[in-house]
Amino acid sequence: MILEAIQYAATALVTPREFRPFIRSSLGLWGRAGRCAKDWAAHEEHCHAFIHETIAPMKQKRTAVVLGSGLLRDVPIFELSRQFDTVVLVDLVHLASVRAWIRAKRLSNVRLISRDLSGLSEALGGKDPEPLAFLRQVPYLDLVVSANIVSQIGLGCRRVLERSGHADPDAVLSRLIEAHLDGLAGLPCKTALLTDVAYEVTDRQGKVVEADDLLCGVPAPAARHGWDWPVAPFRELGGDRQAVHRVIAAHPSI
Ligand SMILES: C[S@@+](CC[C@H](N)C(=O)[O-])C[C@H]1O[C@@H](n2cnc3c(N)ncnc32)[C@H](O)[C@@H]1O
Repeated sequence: MILEAIQYAATALVTPREFRPFIRSSLGLWGRAGRCAKDWAAHEEHCHAFIHETIAPMKQKRTAVVLGSGLLRDVPIFELSRQFDTVVLVDLVHLASVRAWIRAKRLSNVRLISRDLSGLSEALGGKDPEPLAFLRQVPYLDLVVSANIVSQIGLGCRRVLERSGHADPDAVLSRLIEAHLDGLAGLPCKTALLTDVAYEVTDRQGKVVEADDLLCGVPAPAARHGWDWPVAPFRELGGDRQAVHRVIAAHPSI
């Protein structure tokens, strides 16, 4: 609790005002990731392996951008920092502990950007959302990784839309997810998409008590690999339920 309060205060100091409301959710992820470290290890290894497989044949490795870099658990940051001239991490929030760790490891070519990657304000303003358009301004861009952020954009924006009483949240969410996937597919560089696409909540007998798509009906690109991620094991959900997400790894622009 004390550690969390320190982490909150230290992060708030270095986070632009508009992104401070998202610190709590990053802290939630931090707590969950710590509690579920063993259960998440295989998922994180799969993510690292896919990024490794993506960059191994690349000849030019100038700038890499990671969307939804979060706690840098799914992302082989040492490998990216070693192999690329510059690595840009984009997220709503970069926790103080993540910033300190990057400094301690002397990853001096890693840059951090706080940015809303959802496109929600454009969509609500009646424009076609282009949440990844800013990537066109990034010089020498050779790689973009979307690191388990797509479903989170959907969940975060659903909360905002439902709270404001929006008439058709599902339609907006599908447009945002589609815009992210189309944005990736349209980039003139190598791309790697890691995303959970669906989940199931099961009881101890294996009976499915809840299941849903996490991409709001938007078709996922053809997967190179797929695996299950026990996001909330039994003890996390209070003993008699677990939530397992289906994850895919894809190369949308190739
Ligand atoms: C499941 S976590 C990804 C974990 C991360 N790749 C890692 O290695 O620790 C999803 C991340 O997406 C970020 N995120 C969610 N919605 C976002 C948005 N609209 N814009 C930018 N980042 C967002 C969250 O802050 C979180 O860090």
